[in-house]
Amino acid sequence: MAAALRCVLASALVAAAAMAMAADALGVIWGTMSTRRLPPKVVARLLADNGFRKVKIFDADERTMAGLAGTGIETMVAVPNDLLAAVADYGRAREWVRENVTRYAFDGGVDVRFVAVGNEPFLRAYGGAFDRVTVPALRNIQRVLDEAGHGGRVKATVPVNADVYDSPPGDPVPSAGRFRADVAGVMAEVVRFLNRSGALLTVNIYTFLSLYGNDGFPLDYAFFDGGGGGKAKPVVDGRVTYTNVFDANFDTLVSALRRVGLGHLPVMIGEVGWPTDGDRHATPALAERFYAGLLRRLAAGKGTPLRPGARIEVYLFGLIDEDAKSVAPGNFERHWGLFTFDGRPKFPLALRGGRPAMPVPARGVEYLPRRWCVLNPDAAGDDAAGRVADNVGYACGRADCTALGYGCSCGGALDARGNASYAFNAYYQAQGQAESACDFQGLAVVVDEDASRGKCNFSVQVVGSGAPEPAAAAMARTAAVLHCYRNLDLSQSRNLFCPDFLTENAMREPFCPESGNRDKRHPFVPVGGWDKNDFF
Ligand SMILES: *[C@@H]1O[C@H](CO)[C@@H](O)[C@H](O)[C@H]1NC(C)=O
Ligand SMILES: *[C@@H]1O[C@H](CO)[C@@H](O)[C@H](O)[C@H]1NC(C)=O
Ligand SMILES: *[C@@H]1O[C@H](CO)[C@@H](O)[C@H](O)[C@H]1NC(C)=O
Ligand SMILES: *[C@@H]1O[C@H](CO)[C@@H](O)[C@H](O)[C@H]1NC(C)=O
Repeated sequence: MAAALRCVLASALVAAAAMAMAADALGVIWGTMSTRRLPPKVVARLLADNGFRKVKIFDADERTMAGLAGTGIETMVAVPNDLLAAVADYGRAREWVRENVTRYAFDGGVDVRFVAVGNEPFLRAYGGAFDRVTVPALRNIQRVLDEAGHGGRVKATVPVNADVYDSPPGDPVPSAGRFRADVAGVMAEVVRFLNRSGALLTVNIYTFLSLYGNDGFPLDYAFFDGGGGGKAKPVVDGRVTYTNVFDANFDTLVSALRRVGLGHLPVMIGEVGWPTDGDRHATPALAERFYAGLLRRLAAGKGTPLRPGARIEVYLFGLIDEDAKSVAPGNFERHWGLFTFDGRPKFPLALRGGRPAMPVPARGVEYLPRRWCVLNPDAAGDDAAGRVADNVGYACGRADCTALGYGCSCGGALDARGNASYAFNAYYQAQGQAESACDFQGLAVVVDEDASRGKCNFSVQVVGSGAPEPAAAAMARTAAVLHCYRNLDLSQSRNLFCPDFLTENAMREPFCPESGNRDKRHPFVPVGGWDKNDFF
């Protein structure tokens, strides 16, 4: 009895300690590239209900900030890449800080702790476009923060992609890490500045993309469970053995920092996560495995081999699915959420330490009426099949059809008619169920019977504001630019547009990369088009 009680107490203490640690260090990213946005207060409550005390956003959007006001959640705001050149001017930096930090610095305002200067500005795919403006922008922002009296509490940082460092091909081990040659100079300036201002370097590490970009990559090495029983060959680096790519990646950065004399500069993880749809490795089961390992490690405070015991601040990517993100890097881009677009948890997670449990769903979500837009089986006509293909192409260029791809949640679950209906419904919902959005040249009809099949969910959208400007723009780009990035260096990246110099490659890949023989203009239409008999 006494022993049993001691045991219960001991495990309660362990659980409490783990909880404190996890909650202390764990943040999440709230992205807003959605055709319809959940009300900011609903999202802020979702954060609080799940114990998140830190959040990162990609801008300083007023609506998001209004949602965060008064919650006490520590916030990282950001100067987007397209403002870096402007903010390299001191006066402009002062305006930015006044409007986006100082304005919220009151009791009941927003607890801003970091300003991210740019988002992966040295990404190889950007071809050096931001190399000259990032350091001046960083200097200005920190200077203005200091002058405004925020400097002790609010630090400027630069989130970089893991593609700014690597190991030489002849010595591919973490201890040989160094900054990429073309950005070595600017990275040294950045980290020296961060060291002086008492800030942290921010790095985004995407294990999933190592796998996505590389068929030969050992799957088990992406997780934290010791290589799945030793199937994956560990990387042996002197006396250290790496069994997961996250540690190896992080320590490659630590080595690069050592090389410029800053081996102790604190580093936080600005983005890390695993998507759940849009690729054969993007599944809830693998995401659950990844997060289980990651969160267990963080709670244990183990650090990495080169930083044993380090408490690493981490932002999970991301909070909710964003159906208007560019799919340039891949269809999985729209499925990074721990929660669905409407705030339903996807799998159990140990967000508060201890055992994984299903996260708390969003409360107070209001849905549009339960109705769907589907292909009208009575709309036959001689040229109907061709018109269906055209209209599916139109719908998928403006709404999210990524679940239809090979290996995705709706891939293979639907016949041609189902595919067309899925596309029509996605567009209709994205348009807030506007009557005019379910016409498609007379081919579509609104029904009140749920058209979902098994795992393939024909969703009903939420009541919320329509697409913000950037989302609308991203969507338009998606229609034109499908896949430029795969043809380049694949090491990393998300959140990127296809720079103009890459777009000539854009149409080489079909919409869902693995689906092979799709019609390139209408990625969800089989080569050779559909036959009228497929539908009517
Ligand atoms: C503040 O941030 C918002 C949102 O990112 C941006 O649109 C605006 O231009 C910024 N304000 C200034 C003065 O730069
Ligand atoms: C890092 O910052 C400390 C404290 O300001 C300073 O003494 C040191 O020289 C800096 N290191 C480098 C490499 O700049
Ligand atoms: C439906 O779309 C998927 C994804 O592009 C495709 O694999 C499948 O062949 C399509 N079905 C028909 C019958 O066209
Ligand atoms: C499909 O999505 C709706 C919200 O749009 C949700 O209420 C429902 O539970 C989902 N169904 C499945 C099977 O996931």
